[in-house]
Amino acid sequence: MELTLKELASFAKKKGFIYPSSEIYGGVAGLYDYGHLGTLLKHNYETLWRKFFLGLNDNFYELEAANVMHENVFKASGHLENFIDPIVKCSKCDFAERADHFVTRHIKERTEGFSAEELTKLIVKHKLVCPQCKSYLQPVSVLNLMFPLQMGAAAGNRAFLRPETAQSPYVNFKLQYEAQRKKLPLGLAIVGRAYRNEISPRNLTLRQREFTQTELQIFFDPSKIESHPDFADVKNYKLRTLLEEDRKKDKVVERTAGDLLKKGLPQFYVYHLAKIQQFYLDELKVPPEKFRLYQLDDKEKAFYNKFHFDIEVELHELGFTEIGGLHYRTDHDLAGHQRVSKQSMEVMEEESGRKFIPHVLELSFGADRTVYMLLDLAYHYNKERDYVVLKLSTKLTPIYCGIFPLVKNNEGIVELAREVYNDLKKCYSCFYDEAAAVGRRYARADEIGIKYGITIDFDSLKDNCVTVRDRDTTEQTRIKISELKDKLGGMYWK
Ligand code: GAP
Repeated sequence: MELTLKELASFAKKKGFIYPSSEIYGGVAGLYDYGHLGTLLKHNYETLWRKFFLGLNDNFYELEAANVMHENVFKASGHLENFIDPIVKCSKCDFAERADHFVTRHIKERTEGFSAEELTKLIVKHKLVCPQCKSYLQPVSVLNLMFPLQMGAAAGNRAFLRPETAQSPYVNFKLQYEAQRKKLPLGLAIVGRAYRNEISPRNLTLRQREFTQTELQIFFDPSKIESHPDFADVKNYKLRTLLEEDRKKDKVVERTAGDLLKKGLPQFYVYHLAKIQQFYLDELKVPPEKFRLYQLDDKEKAFYNKFHFDIEVELHELGFTEIGGLHYRTDHDLAGHQRVSKQSMEVMEEESGRKFIPHVLELSFGADRTVYMLLDLAYHYNKERDYVVLKLSTKLTPIYCGIFPLVKNNEGIVELAREVYNDLKKCYSCFYDEAAAVGRRYARADEIGIKYGITIDFDSLKDNCVTVRDRDTTEQTRIKISELKDKLGGMYWK
């Protein structure tokens, strides 16, 4: 059975993962809130992300920074001028949509990066009209996606909600470079909010107006872009790539990291591309066949990028969807901030006295898109059981174990179950449930992804063992209570 976006949205809402923000007032397009389980899932992703990417180098750290930023930040970064999307409006009614999405939907061709003029020509050529009232459409225009803010009472103090977390590490680079003892590469990560006035927010959390990004900015010496000290570790690792040259066949080609160097990509870039794939396949457990690294062409690349791959995962109903990207931003941002702030962004190589502006490699991921992706991949309707089993990986699932006393009217069983619960919750996220028959409790647990169901029964009072049931296989094993904590910790369990 094919999962639809509508079904996933309804499931996510009912179970407390994700639902529209301010819903009692009708909601606001492009704004979503996370319920108790969604928040746990998102935090688990963020924890995993921090551990993996900050672990790549001893000089990588996380920052926390203001979401509202000085107007000049965005003059320097180019966002005031270039962070625009094409918009198509009806000449009669209130219809408005992002023009490239509108055209792509009708002509079934990618039009990302097309100019307003090119999109207008396609609309005319294909005789596209307003989908609501069938009137003519206006020529395509552009809209800046940033949210401006008036700060304080005085007129003229314009600021903006940041449209990407990336600008915070850039404006703090010089301070951090000094504080981190002038070492490159230097990595500054942010797990934080970004804001975009999207023309057509849609698809649950895939296109919102406020969202979370997990981004790592790596500042490095551009003269060393052709090397990475750990490249040998990934040299023979096969990456699932769709390069510009593969587009006609529209097929993923597996290429080793070594092969990608022959395609003109620098070693420093390819090393991180490999690490990103390892994160998705090994940590987030995305099935390899649903993962690809999609190379963008000159037209599609973000305005600040020299090399740009999207990280794409195949989702139900939507097909391959961008979840993140690896961006070689050169010195675009630091040079821009040097120009506008009049503060030098240069650093000096000690041995040679050579001065240069560091370049930036950006590893950028949408946390909300990732959570959506995780739910989409984990959602399995089980015919035999006749309910949904949420097969989230053990590292990500919001609740790891459910503790179930077989009956709730036996003091001994309830007391022992409480004991087990209190002990396990010191190590694992646990859920105590004594309502309804145990089969019903298993079903409720499976639906929200609880990996292990632990039942305390009459025999437990005699043999000090419990039954541990695996969510995915439904296999049941008797385990001594004294060994439970260790065994659940992964000695025997995947
Ligand atoms: N700092 C680079 C940057 O922001 P981007 O491709 O515009 O690059 C990075 O955004 C990631 O942020 C995307 O791959 C996507 O996962 C997420 N993202 C972007 N716009 C979003 C939106 N409107 N709603 C949810 N996530 C979004």
